[in-house]
Amino acid sequence: MTKTATLALGGPAQDYAVLEGSIGPDVLDIRKLYARTGAFTFDPGFTSTAACESGITYIDGDQGVLLHRGYSIEDLARDSSFMEVAYLLTEGELPTHEELATFKYTISRHTMVHEQLMQFFRGFRRDAHPMAIMCGVVGALSAFYHDSTDIDDPKQRMIASHRLIAKMPTIAALAYKYSIGQPFIYPDNSLSYTGNFLRMTFAVPAEPYVVNPVVERALDRIFILHADHEQNASTSTVRLAGSSGANPFACIAAGIACLWGPAHGGANEAALNMLREIGTPDKIPHYIARAKDKDDSFRLMGFGHRVYKNYDPRATVMQQTVREVFKEMNVTDPIFDVALQLEEMALNDPYFIEKKLFPNVDFYSGIILSAIGFPTSMFTALFALARTVGWVAQWNEMIGDPEQKIGRPRQLYTGAPQRPFVPLDKR
Ligand code: CMC
Repeated sequence: MTKTATLALGGPAQDYAVLEGSIGPDVLDIRKLYARTGAFTFDPGFTSTAACESGITYIDGDQGVLLHRGYSIEDLARDSSFMEVAYLLTEGELPTHEELATFKYTISRHTMVHEQLMQFFRGFRRDAHPMAIMCGVVGALSAFYHDSTDIDDPKQRMIASHRLIAKMPTIAALAYKYSIGQPFIYPDNSLSYTGNFLRMTFAVPAEPYVVNPVVERALDRIFILHADHEQNASTSTVRLAGSSGANPFACIAAGIACLWGPAHGGANEAALNMLREIGTPDKIPHYIARAKDKDDSFRLMGFGHRVYKNYDPRATVMQQTVREVFKEMNVTDPIFDVALQLEEMALNDPYFIEKKLFPNVDFYSGIILSAIGFPTSMFTALFALARTVGWVAQWNEMIGDPEQKIGRPRQLYTGAPQRPFVPLDKR
């Protein structure tokens, strides 16, 4: 039976359809609300609003569940590769051996960037943040690819998507190399997607570089954990930018800009900086007290999530990965102990229990990235690299949706009502 919801707004009651997803909460269809009642809904921050229909990623925040096309993040992180997940997200199904080989080959054909794009890097200050460079350079890609900007052509959309997935590691590595004054390293398509990125980042022309398989696997898993996350702020930004029919490369640059903020992707950088600032376990109570103090703006970075009111499943995998990487690489970092103890103290503290604040994906990721050798300023750039897969999948889904419309929210206006203009000399 079709479910309906009845709403009476100063007039006769009217029925509104209730839409049912395959799993997850029902959605009240209020598309006709304004036409029928003259009223808007008010939901800043979109805490109760489904902004689109999507078949890509599902999150159950209360149970700590994350599924991509129906497959759990734990299974994907354990048994698949980032390229498989990229195929899954963009194409809808897990690839066969042959499909995966073709996909990898296609991506590898697009790893180089136009030589003229290199000039853009040299225009930045040496100490520019990699995310500032990524934002500018990815936006600049829109000037290079006129053959993939007819977004109504699914083939052109897919070419733009492949270009973005393929070029993001190159651009991130170039940003890093530029910031440390080392020569740019060109892609090597004989390596895996992640191995090639490691080489472009850490190799120098003067010495041979061998990809460490443990590091390669750990980083690949980090990419899997960041690949997509439903309608988060940056993905919604990409969708909103794309809803006007804008150039896909410019839309992804908009997503990068949004991701950079410390409440979103920038939290991995902020979390590691926080752990280093705490430094030793004896200082933890002081920082927990600060996080609870209403008069102090300090928050535990890497803690809390808009959707997860339980352990973020990505944080569980990330914590295991830290242990594996440390064991395999025979390294230790006292910051990991600080993180573990901070987590334990926070999870036993009534403030964090009551507000359902748990570690999120960013709490442990910085510890591994730092052990691999990335400076903190690169952390969010790595997040952007991985999330590009989700952004292009969601953008493609949106453009291909026959119901797609330009995104145009309304507002609760609280400014001055209409009033007569006062000429300058009378004010
Ligand atoms: N430390 C201390 N208190 C917190 C924290 C925290 N990390 N996060 C939320 N709270 C408190 C907050 O003060 C508020 O308290 P009250 O109800 O007394 O005013 C309550 O919990 C709800 O917070 P909110 O800001 O209304 O919740 P939100 O859903 O709007 O924010 C969040 C979600 C992720 C922005 C927030 O938890 C936060 O700022 N966390 C730290 C930054 C972080 O780790 N971000 C990464 C998110 S995961 C990666 C990604 O997807 O990008």
